[in-house]
Amino acid sequence: MKLTDSLSKCINYLLKQGIPEVVDSVVVLGSGLGNFADTINNTLTIPYKDIPLFPEASVAGHSGLLVFGSVAGKTVLAFSGRFHHYEGYPFSKTVLPVHIASAFDAKKLVISNAAGAINTNFKVGDLMVIDDIVRPFHSVSTIPSPKFRYNLYQIANRVRKIAVESGIDVQRGNYLYVKGPNYETSAEIRAFRIIGADVVGMSTAPELIEASRLGVSATAISLVTNMAAGIAGIKLDHSEVKQAAEKRKDDFARLVTEIIRCL
Ligand code: HPA
Repeated sequence: MKLTDSLSKCINYLLKQGIPEVVDSVVVLGSGLGNFADTINNTLTIPYKDIPLFPEASVAGHSGLLVFGSVAGKTVLAFSGRFHHYEGYPFSKTVLPVHIASAFDAKKLVISNAAGAINTNFKVGDLMVIDDIVRPFHSVSTIPSPKFRYNLYQIANRVRKIAVESGIDVQRGNYLYVKGPNYETSAEIRAFRIIGADVVGMSTAPELIEASRLGVSATAISLVTNMAAGIAGIKLDHSEVKQAAEKRKDDFARLVTEIIRCL
């Protein structure tokens, strides 16, 4: 257990609720992917609103619950509900789950998100293991991290091997971070494709950078909930996120379980 002054109120509260000093895995559940929390055994569920320092998650599809329990015989802490920068939270809040993973000495952090596909070989419902991130405007973290040389490729290769062995189809590629909250323009998506992005989304990059800074071993998975702006020629809205998640939520939950078991 690593206890920093700024987090101590929050961590002490969680310990008092019965969460042990060390947890094996921490999982951050993206939009519509909260169902993984239903597969956790012997759960202890704590609403964010009861936890000191926690803001309330406010986006549709995010429930705002911290769920502790066991998966594949290992202890897991799942964040069902995220704090996005576009909702007005400073980056220091968006990365709270990473700080908690570090405080509880988690061996692995699994981050998930909903994303729009830029790569035209992808389709709605695809799961993509993130190889690398692209930050076109670099306005992602508040704390300078000269140490940021995140090599996600190694862990992404291991996660893909786990997916193959579990019979789950996954894509691989680069996640491009945008601040949001607006979806992109078609011109931006064309530009993003040229600079090597496969999917686009409004989270995950800050968490991965903070995980790198704190030395937490992290992997990230995107669920393609829509083709990015200008590709399919239809208007984007949040109901697509829910439909795509519905289609792949069982595969996603199984993949996260296998990552917890095997990584
Ligand atoms: N753009 C940005 N963020 C997203 C998208 C998108 O198309 N889909 C889901 N999150």
